[in-house]
Amino acid sequence: MTTTADQGTDLAALLSLDDVALAARRVLAEPVWDYVAGGSGTESTLRDNRDAFDRVHLVPRVLVGAATYDLGTELLGTPMGLPVGVAPMAYQRLLHPDGEVALAEAARDEGAVFVASMLSSEPVERIAATGAAVWLQLYWLRDRRVIADLVTRAEDAGCRALMLTVDVPRMGRRLRDMRSGFTLPGDVVAANLPPEVRAPAHESGANSSALMVHTGLAFDPKLSWRDLDWLRGRTRLPIVVKGILHPDDAVRAVDRGVDAVVVSNHGGRQLDGVVPSIAALEPVVAAVDGRCAVLLDSGVRGGVDVARALALGASAVLVGRPALWGLAVGGRAGARRVLSLLRAELEDAMAMMGCADLRALGHGATVPVGGSVPTMRGRASDDAPARSAGWSP
Ligand code: FNR
Ligand code: LAC
Repeated sequence: MTTTADQGTDLAALLSLDDVALAARRVLAEPVWDYVAGGSGTESTLRDNRDAFDRVHLVPRVLVGAATYDLGTELLGTPMGLPVGVAPMAYQRLLHPDGEVALAEAARDEGAVFVASMLSSEPVERIAATGAAVWLQLYWLRDRRVIADLVTRAEDAGCRALMLTVDVPRMGRRLRDMRSGFTLPGDVVAANLPPEVRAPAHESGANSSALMVHTGLAFDPKLSWRDLDWLRGRTRLPIVVKGILHPDDAVRAVDRGVDAVVVSNHGGRQLDGVVPSIAALEPVVAAVDGRCAVLLDSGVRGGVDVARALALGASAVLVGRPALWGLAVGGRAGARRVLSLLRAELEDAMAMMGCADLRALGHGATVPVGGSVPTMRGRASDDAPARSAGWSP
């Protein structure tokens, strides 16, 4: 079941994230490919995430006189070289023996944030020791002491933020994993968790995934806003809530002192049939009204998608599966290839959008399908071209 990275892959020949996916499919054992690539149920949300991106149309400005493009930004006090983070993803040693360490190094080298999954197959201390800007993602286990301990460890290791994932009261129905009987190989474990927490359980309960049954992890389905208050009271680190789709939930999160929300449907892996993330973004951005940062994930497959999300008001995006595919084909270098392709494609998009920096890409530089081109908010001034890309909706 484990896979070895194909170090023979010519990374320079991979010209898009789709190319990287094809290369990864060739090197991965089928059940591992399916675990990563798959969604829940009929996978309609998995498909819709992509289709919805393709329906977001950008409206460029021309003759702006810019020749250099600044992809840098700052998020929760962390300077970033590009508005992209690696989404939290479990068990990365499934893809490559260097696992999270290699992917975090790639993120460090490209100036991207690395979000370590609570279920990472390397301990958070080792991941943070790469020098990457690391955030730690948490699920809510029934034993709250485990969470409290992880919070302290994240602080001590120098993590820059905590991310609470809230869209997994139970696992989505991953039919591919059920059919393949997917389980973790013995040498891939949830390295952050004490052995008694990760020991195989006999009770499968509502967690129908073969993976969860195998690992014995039972997330607490009773997680509520009160638990978020508990976490807020426990740490000074910024808190990011991941898995928001409803604008009212985003407002509740901000009211409780959250520093950022991630508009996400878990890459189509949780409830099949939910709204595509990119379609849920604008209402959330409008609802929080600048009171916290809004990130997006689920379906980002290129720099143009990053531009689309930023144009709809996101501060940054997280990229999931493509980072794992890069890791599978070439370890750290392969993961770096994915991030550098995103960088190159985003820079192309900014140049052709007439945007010298990310702020210029901001809210309003899009037209919905079938929509009319909106009226320009103000007259573009020749000496401030990059700041004039705003359209009133
Ligand atoms: C995930 N995701 C996830 N999310 C999370 O909060 N904690 C986790 O441990 C994991 N594990 C995980 C494993 C694998 C293999 C995948 C593919 C995804 C969800 C992830 O953070 C993110 O929301 C989606 O992957 C984003 O969608 P794309 O970019 O993969 O389409
Ligand atoms: C997944 C869980 C681990 O999506 O978040 O596989």
